[in-house]
Amino acid sequence: MLHLLASQAADPILRLMAQLAGDTRAHKIDLGVGVYKDAAGATPIMRSVKEAENQLWQAENSKTYVALAGDPAFLDAMQRLVLGEGFPAGRVAAIATPGGTGAVRQGFELLRMARPGARVFVTDPTWANHLSILTHLGIEAVPFRYVDPATHAVDVQGMLVDLAQLRAGDVVLLHGCCHNPTGADPDIEGWRALAQIMNARGAVPMIDLAYQGLGDGLEADAAAARAIAQSCPVVLIAASCSKNFGIYRERTGILMAVMQDGTLRDRAQGALTHLNRQCYSFPPDHGARLVTMVLNDDTLRADWQAELEAMRTRMTSLRALLARALEAATGSDRFAYLTGHRGMFSRLGVTPGQVDRLRDDHAIYMAPDGRINIAGLHADTVAPLARALVDVGI
Ligand code: LMR
Repeated sequence: MLHLLASQAADPILRLMAQLAGDTRAHKIDLGVGVYKDAAGATPIMRSVKEAENQLWQAENSKTYVALAGDPAFLDAMQRLVLGEGFPAGRVAAIATPGGTGAVRQGFELLRMARPGARVFVTDPTWANHLSILTHLGIEAVPFRYVDPATHAVDVQGMLVDLAQLRAGDVVLLHGCCHNPTGADPDIEGWRALAQIMNARGAVPMIDLAYQGLGDGLEADAAAARAIAQSCPVVLIAASCSKNFGIYRERTGILMAVMQDGTLRDRAQGALTHLNRQCYSFPPDHGARLVTMVLNDDTLRADWQAELEAMRTRMTSLRALLARALEAATGSDRFAYLTGHRGMFSRLGVTPGQVDRLRDDHAIYMAPDGRINIAGLHADTVAPLARALVDVGI
């Protein structure tokens, strides 16, 4: 019967990882998958996480199940991190999930359960896996304009014109900060306008928050999610701990449904817990426990915040270095937009053919749409990248 299966197209980011692994050139530069790297090109375990792991190894005396929705201490710590101290816990239904992708998937499952036929509006472009999961679930994805190709900034007017098609019960999938793949986020007025149109049309926001702390800082990066949670009656938030705690393979995330109505909240909690049971039963605990320990211990938390801040500022500096190197190499300031973007990603505006030449002739790897992971650079690779870009004719 399995011979009936159609073959699946490889995910573009995962295909890139495989190509890179097979490249034996010593000078290869990996600007592909969205994983933080330090100046030595390593993706280290954060000090606070390592220390929490050490303490956990000493103290943990059972691996029995915890709770179907996830450890309540983890859910509580993450709600406070994302929504801020003092946000009324009685308005939030939540489950722990395997990573941010697990949270996104469970969010879509919840939508499908609540309202079969609901459409999900997605920024054009969005993370390739958003589209892939929606297609897999048979949910219609409706792209809306997001970035102005001339300025590389968010096209708020275009976005609002396209979102005028929203119908009651549709969902709008937004990136809470550090938009993947463009690096361009709406400003506070843009977010206000988004909240207004979603409320006016009866649409439900769903926020994918995968990079909190890696854009403008922990608080600033949560500001949009918090503003939307204050102004919309129902909001789904899928938050990942992969990047800001550096625990990618531990698969740690949370899905929150934030609601103004407490009765609905209870129903949503039941549905979310049910979804966990259907999908994988108890969610993974190890990463969640480390996150809880780091967030709830003053010393570990202070060290985590300091290290996260150093990661963030390293990427901001690399953005400035790259913009300057490109200005010098091209004699134009058309790459100045890189410094206005946030997080790991920006797109360089190169064609798929140029992306291939960068890989074949220069051993530089980036996503097929010209997205680069800024953290994959270091001081010595910025100038070679700029020269290679000129060589392929940018
Ligand atoms: C990315 O966009 O590169 C990351 O989110 C990793 C992934 O799973 O695609």
